[in-house]
Amino acid sequence: MFPVIPVLLGLLAFLFAWHFLNIQRARSKLPAGPAPLPVIGNMGILGFQIHHETLLKLASRYGDIYTLWLGHTPIVVLNNFEAVKEALITHSEDFAERPRNPCFENLVGSACGIIFSNGHAWKQQRRFSLMTLRNLGLGKRSLEGCVQHQATCLVQALAQEKGRPMDPYSSILSSVGNLIGNVLFGHWFSTADDRFHCLVKGSKAMEEFSSTLCSQLYNAFPSVMKHLQPIIVSTMSALRHWKKLELIIREEIQSHQRSWVPEEPRDFIDLYLAQLEKNKDDPNSPFTELNMVQVIMDLFIAGLDTSTIALSWALLYMMTYPEIQEQVQEELNTVLGPSHVISYEDRKILPFTNAVIHETQRVSSMTATGVFHKCTKDTKLQGLPISKGTIILPNLYSIHYDPDHWETPHKFNPSHFLDKDGNFTNNEAFLPFSAGVRVCLGEKFARTTLFIFFTNLLRAFRFQMPEGVKEINTEPILGSALQPHPFKACAIARKTVLNPAA
Ligand code: HEM
Repeated sequence: MFPVIPVLLGLLAFLFAWHFLNIQRARSKLPAGPAPLPVIGNMGILGFQIHHETLLKLASRYGDIYTLWLGHTPIVVLNNFEAVKEALITHSEDFAERPRNPCFENLVGSACGIIFSNGHAWKQQRRFSLMTLRNLGLGKRSLEGCVQHQATCLVQALAQEKGRPMDPYSSILSSVGNLIGNVLFGHWFSTADDRFHCLVKGSKAMEEFSSTLCSQLYNAFPSVMKHLQPIIVSTMSALRHWKKLELIIREEIQSHQRSWVPEEPRDFIDLYLAQLEKNKDDPNSPFTELNMVQVIMDLFIAGLDTSTIALSWALLYMMTYPEIQEQVQEELNTVLGPSHVISYEDRKILPFTNAVIHETQRVSSMTATGVFHKCTKDTKLQGLPISKGTIILPNLYSIHYDPDHWETPHKFNPSHFLDKDGNFTNNEAFLPFSAGVRVCLGEKFARTTLFIFFTNLLRAFRFQMPEGVKEINTEPILGSALQPHPFKACAIARKTVLNPAA
C-alpha cells in the first residue's frame, strides 16, 4: 500500500524548510527584527494590528530601523526623525512609490487615483489636483472664502444647542464634508440631502475599512482572500459603499458635462473636464473618466475624517486644559475685532493660538503610523541596506514623542512652538502631514480649515465638560487615524458677534 501519510508529512516538512530558507535569505538582506512565524509572520506580536506604541516599544529592542513581517511581506519600520527625514525628504524620490494594495485594486479594478497610484499617472493626477486646489475661485468663491462660510455655519449649528451637552463630531463632519464637496462639485449640499449623507457615510466607511483586520489580511494573503470575499461581510459592505460613492460622483460629472462652459470653470470637476478635453487624442494620457472619479473619491475620503478628527482633538484638548483655552480667547479678543473675518493669514498675528493648534496635532499624532511607501531602487537608510521594492512604514508618532526633539514630549505644552519672546516657531520634527514628494496633498487646505474653524469656534464659545463629568479621556481609538473616544461638550456662547462672512 502507498504510504500516504508519511509522504504528506515529508512534503509538508519540505515546504516548511523551503519557506524557512527563503525567509532567512530575505531576512539577511533586511534590517534585523523579530523572527517571523510561518504564515502569520510577526502579526502575532503586533496583536494583528499596527499599533504606534507597539512599534515604538519594538524599537527599544531592535533599534530605530527594523523589519516586521505582515504575513509573507516584510515591512521596514522607521522610528526616529533622522531615519524618516532621510527616507522621505533626503531620498524622497527613492521612497516615492506606494506598495500594491490588492484590497483596493480588487474593489476598484485597478490602481488609479492618487493615494494608491504610482509613476507617471500618479505624478500627473497629483500635480493637477494640487494646482487646482491652489487656484480655485476668487473672493467668496475661493477655497478660503468657502472655509470661512462653513466656519460660520458650524458656529450657527453649535449655537442652536444653546450650551446643552452635545457631541460636536457630527456637526464638524457635516461642515467639513460640505466644504470639500463644494470645492469638488461647486455647490453646497443641504444637510437634508440623502446624497450628501451617502457621500459622508460612504467616505467614512471606506476610510475605516482600510484599517480593518480584514483589509490587512486581504493585502497579506490576496490570493486566498479573493476567494473568500463573497462571504466576508466587511469587504462586501466596502464594495457597496464604493459603488454608491462612484454613482454619486458620476451623476455630478454628468450634470457638469451638461452645463459645462470651458471658459468659466466653476470647480474641480469643470477643470478636470477641460483636462480630459485637452488630452482626448492621447491614448496614453492618465486623464481618464475612471481616474477623475477616483481622484475625487480620494480627495473626499482623505480629507473628510482627518480634518474632522483634527478639529475634534483640538476641542477636546481645550476642554482638558481650560486655562490654555482662556489664553487663546484672550489673544483672539486682544488681536481681532469681534466682527473681523478670520483668514489663514491671521495666524501670523495670533502666535499663541497657532502654537496651540500645532500642539494639539503633535500630541494627538492622529496619523501615527503614516502610510506605507515603497522603495524604488536599492539604497541605504542610516547605513542599512534597503533593497528595491521594500515597503517602509514611517512611525510619525515616534517623531512627535521624541525627547531629542521636544522638551516635554508627553505633556501638552504650546511652548513647543513658541520662542522665548512668544513668537511662533516651527519644529522640523512636526510631521502630521508626513513629508517629501508624497506629503499630504491637502496640507494647505487642512491647515486653513483647522485654523479658521478653530479660531471661529473659540471666539464664539467656551467649550467645557458637561456637569458631572470629572475626567476627559484623551486615549485614542485605533484606526487608520487615531481618533478621540466619542465625547460630549457644552458650547457656552461668549459675548462676541458672530462672524459676518455668512
Ligand atoms: C488634518 C488633516 C489631514 C492630515 C493630518 C493628513 C495627513 C496625511 C498623511 C500623513 C498622508 C500620507 C503621506 C505619505 O504618504 O507620506 C496624507 C496623504 C494624502 N492626503 Fe492628507 N491629511 C489631512 C487632510 C487632507 C485633506 C483635507 C485632503 C484633501 C482634500 C487630503 C488629501 C490627501 C491625499 C490625496 C493624500 C495622498 C497623497 C499621495 O499619495 O500623493 N488630506 N495625508
